[in-house]
Amino acid sequence: MENTCKIGIIVAMRSELEKLAGMISSPVTEKIGAHEFISGRLASQDVILACCGVGKVNAAACAAEMIMRYAPAAVINTGVAGGLADGMRVGDIVVADGAVEHDLDYGELGDERGMIFFPDGREEKLLAADEGTADALYLAAEKAALGVRRGVVASGDVFVSDSKKKQDIVATFGAVACEMEGAAIAHVCRLFGTPFGILRSISDSANEDSPVDFPTFVKIAADNAASVIVNYLDGLN
Ligand code: ADE
Repeated sequence: MENTCKIGIIVAMRSELEKLAGMISSPVTEKIGAHEFISGRLASQDVILACCGVGKVNAAACAAEMIMRYAPAAVINTGVAGGLADGMRVGDIVVADGAVEHDLDYGELGDERGMIFFPDGREEKLLAADEGTADALYLAAEKAALGVRRGVVASGDVFVSDSKKKQDIVATFGAVACEMEGAAIAHVCRLFGTPFGILRSISDSANEDSPVDFPTFVKIAADNAASVIVNYLDGLN
């Protein structure tokens, strides 16, 4: 079994991986299925870094593989997100208090949208992030002098680029940002009892401008998120 003090970090896309991967010293890469896991030192911490691919299934598989192979002390999901709350700007940071699966819908069955029915019978809609981890991520964002917001992050297998869909997610879940992996990783962490956190940076406003804004700003936002993750790891010393 690996060192249990490792912090697991999961991103979805290569553009979100590059900055963090480039800063890892003595990297060792191991492949499990299609996922590569890079172990090494980052900001004086032992980390295990993986790029899961886009969407909830990729994210869930990667999180399960990471936890089973490396038993990290906590898993942090980072990268970019669409801003849902008013006043959020490109490059701002979002730290999740919790995550929801906004595309979990039981239709005419009538169960509450987003409700997760766990194998042990528990029912939970909001997957609460580890409070200490969320506090530390928030402090790290403040230290980077970036705009930072705390709240619910909504995940689903959909790129939100429609104001109506955006309003629906805000009205139903009170979410401040949307993306496509965080809640799936949170869900798997809950299944394994592993503490988790989500820190994202805003690349677009989840509206009709998003198809242009996302590719324009994804790199700036991804690098902002990576900088805050480095601050967070530094602060763990
Ligand atoms: N990640 C970044 N922007 C997003 C959006 N608008 N919808 C879903 N995921 C995103």
